[in-house]
Amino acid sequence: PKITFHQPDGRSDVLDVPDGTSLMRAAVTNSIPGIVGECGGQAMCATCHVYIRSAHLTDLPDVGEDEDEMLDCTATARDPQRSRLGCQILVTTTLDGLEVDLPESQI
Ligand code: FES
Repeated sequence: PKITFHQPDGRSDVLDVPDGTSLMRAAVTNSIPGIVGECGGQAMCATCHVYIRSAHLTDLPDVGEDEDEMLDCTATARDPQRSRLGCQILVTTTLDGLEVDLPESQI
């Protein structure tokens, strides 16, 4: 599935992400700036914060309890609808075409 990562400065990268790979892992593996993933995907650091563009919001799994707590600790302000942890979103074919905005800062 194709996923687009938009930078705060307007640049963007489109990745073809294998099924079952998290948004965080895909970004880190492809050296996309703006995602850190310090805890390695354990929902314990909030440095993989992304804003999901609205078209795909309903396709995503619900925010988990750990994810919800960490989203209150993001470096850039949480958006009540659009903020998610990139490590908690696994890419599937349903998410083909997903676009995410990266926050100004992760730390
Ligand atoms: Fe640490 Fe996602 S990588 S919370």
